[in-house]
Formats: sequence, structure tokens, C-alpha cells
Amino acid sequence: MKSEWSKSMQIKLDYNNMMADFIGEDQGFTNKDFVINKKLVEKAFNEVKNNRGTGMMGWTELPYNQKEIVADIIATAKQIKKKFDNFVVLGIGGSALGPIAVFQALCHLRHNELPKSKRKFPKLYVEDNVDPERMAALLDVLDLNKTCFNVVTKSGATSETMAQYLIIMDILKKKFGDKAKEHMIATTSEHKGNLIKIAKDEGLKTFYIPDGVGGRFSELCPVGLLPAAVVGVDIKALLKGAAYMDKLCKSKDLKKNPALMCALLEVLAMNKGKNISVMMPYSDGLKYIADWYCQLWGESLGKSVDNDGNLVYAGQTPVKALGVTDQHSQVQLYREGPFDKVVTIIGVENFRSTVEISAGCDSIPDVNFLCGHSMNELINAERKATEYALTTAKRMNYTLLLPEINAFTIGQLLFLFEMETAYAGAMLNIDTYNQPGVEGGKNATYALFGRKGYEQTKKEMDNAPKKRQEYCI
Ligand code: PA5
Repeated sequence: MKSEWSKSMQIKLDYNNMMADFIGEDQGFTNKDFVINKKLVEKAFNEVKNNRGTGMMGWTELPYNQKEIVADIIATAKQIKKKFDNFVVLGIGGSALGPIAVFQALCHLRHNELPKSKRKFPKLYVEDNVDPERMAALLDVLDLNKTCFNVVTKSGATSETMAQYLIIMDILKKKFGDKAKEHMIATTSEHKGNLIKIAKDEGLKTFYIPDGVGGRFSELCPVGLLPAAVVGVDIKALLKGAAYMDKLCKSKDLKKNPALMCALLEVLAMNKGKNISVMMPYSDGLKYIADWYCQLWGESLGKSVDNDGNLVYAGQTPVKALGVTDQHSQVQLYREGPFDKVVTIIGVENFRSTVEISAGCDSIPDVNFLCGHSMNELINAERKATEYALTTAKRMNYTLLLPEINAFTIGQLLFLFEMETAYAGAMLNIDTYNQPGVEGGKNATYALFGRKGYEQTKKEMDNAPKKRQEYCI
């Protein structure tokens, strides 16, 4: 990858509209705010720098330490392409949102609907729910002879994923007998959990999720790389993009480090009561990057206690929106509702397709003004118009601009958000990498299903106040 090209593909951050010069003194920041918070920035920077690659920050090294794994993934993807037409991921949360986001960003937007001759790679389905109708519908459309499943769970204990695995494996065994294992790949922890035991017993091909890589930080390990490679994504370029962004995010200089700057802006905004972070890509390809971001930001920063045990109830509610679609749904609220949001707009300079708006309405100037332009111009004009509209209403917003959508820029974007989350967590002095709130729900499910070891939780649930009929309609 030529360094000139890499530079031309660098994601740009424009935070003008977070500043007092543009949205006024009472809403915006000044350079003085950056000076006042110098110590906070330094603390976060050093914490991330000193901890990277250790504990639950193993994800920072994924762009560099997976040479053999990447080779195995590419070889496996080639075999899958030869034998199968469908690749189905069974997983939830961090084991699903990344694969969905990268698939949508880097494959044809109608990939699964394309005829095989044009598609060239298997169809991808990511099943991240236990809605029985969805599972039944999936089974209705799959030719199992041509389907490979990938069960993905780091803990190997997630009820939803393991339920899916049990259902599918049973069907595969009934249909293929001893050959069922050829239709199932496992991605899980090497040393912990139930799936690794099952995978060994069944003789499944297995990829490992490194110990220091939590679910929501796992897109750049086999969790995300295998499905991406199966649908033809250049996973080496994805990792190169991440490494490129990592380099930028290693700068101590706040004004040169996009992740550090975004983290500071969001944390300062939270201090000003901006409890909602809206992620609004102006691109259908990036639509599910917003979903992935919502998990990353919400689950990492939403914590009741800080590292010193103080009750802090930290976090910001992440909301996904799609430009321009949500201009006709959400932007009214963003512009005129409560002053409680920061809107992150993601723009794309050059789209992969160009669609001209046809002429044909000479006599109606109010329609004719569109003619001679392209949809490309229209979507970017609307993005700038939303920026302008939010700014004139004194609403905090900033823009991340991708020169184009490709594996290199998507690798950058994912890594940028991961680093931003790490810096923000350090600034908030919380544990970015745990999820006790999620575990609470998981444990209650185990208790309701009578799982051994959860008798106490079941007792507590049984003793919880009973619902009153008077509050039901
Ligand atoms: O970020 C996380 O750790 C979680 O959201 C997990 O990804 C999610 O709960 C699924 O967990 P697992 O991969 O263990 O099945």
C-alpha cells in the first residue's frame, strides 16, 4: 500500500461545530477548555498507552499480531467459497454487530440478492436473535447442503447463541450424520467456556478469540475477519486501515489525535448534559456501523460505579440515525428538542456508484432544479445542509469524513471508534471493558431456565415484588 494513497484515504475529523465560534459560548467549547482539561487528556492518553496490549486491551494489537491467523482465515474462506453458497453466523452482541457492519459497508448492498455469477462469494446471514419466527424463516430459505454455519461466542455461555447452536447442530446431525461437523465452524475462547469443549468433542474447525479481546472489541479478530473474508472482503486491507488509524491515535498532541479529540469532546459534552450521542452516517453502506458503535459506546461507558467505587452512573445513550432518511424523521427533534445531544455525522466524499438525476421536468422549476445533478451531489448537499441546520440551532455536531468506503477506510473507522471509547473510558475513570449490566440479564435468564448454580438468583427473582393487576390494562 503506497503511503501517498494511504494518506489520501485518511479519515478527516471536522469539529468546528462543537466550538463556541460556531454554536455560541453557552453551548460550544473554546481552546481554553482544552487547556483546562490538559491533565485529564494526559491521564487518559497515558492510561491507554501504558495498558495497550495487556489485560482487556489485547484488541489494540490485532492489526499487528495475526499473520498466521489471517492466512488460516483466508485459506478457510477459500474452501468455504468452493463448497458452500451460504455462510450463517450464529452470535449476538459483539459477535454479530461487527460482521453485520463490515458486510454492509464492504459488500454489494444487495449481495445476497445478486445471482451467483455476479455475487461470486457465499451469501451471508447473521442471526443475532432468538425469535423463533426468524429461525424458522431462515431454515425455510437455506439449502443445508450448501450452508456453512459459524457459531461465535467468546464465553461459550450465551444462551441465545448456544440455543441456536443446539438447534442447528441437531438438524445437521440428522441430515449429515458424521459429516455434520463439516458444516460448522466455532469461534470462541481457547481456554475458557463451554463452546471450546463442545468444539473439541465434535471435532469442529475452531478459531480463537484472544483472551484480551472482549466481544465489542472483537471485530478485527476471527469473529469479524472470517465472515468478512468469506464474503470477499480484503481483510489484510482492513487491518492495515486499523494500523494506520492506530498510528494517528498514538499522537500525544490532542489536535493531531482524532480519537483523543473525539473522546474529549464527548466527555466535555456529557459534563454539559449532552446525554445522547447520535451516530448519523450519510451512507447506507455505513448504516450498521452506527449499530456497532451503539454497542461499543453504550456497553463500554454505561457504568454505575467508577474505578474508585463511587456511584457515577456514567455514559451517554447512543442513538443510530441514517442520513438522509432520518432527516425526515429525527432531525426535527435534534434541531428543536432538548439540548441533550451530540450528533456525529459520517460523510463519504466519493461513493462507489454514480447516479445522475434525469432531466424531464423543464416546466416545473421547483422540481427542475434537481436535474443535471447526481444523487451523489444530493446526499452530500443534504449532509452539509443538516450540519448547517444543526449549527445554526446551536446544536453540537461534528463530522468524520471518509474519502471513500473501502476496506482500508473501514479499518480506520472501526479502530478510531475503539480508541475513542478507550480514551473516553479512561477520562471517565470507569472500567470500559466489563459489562455487569449485561451479565445481570444473562444470569436472570439462566435462573429462569433452571441452570445449575443460579438457584440464588432464582430465589431472588421469585421473591421480587409480584406484579399488580391494578397496573395492567
Ligand atoms: O461486548 C461484550 O462482551 C458483549 O456484548 C458480548 O459480545 C455479548 O454478550 C455476547 O457474548 P459472547 O461472545 O460471550 O457470546
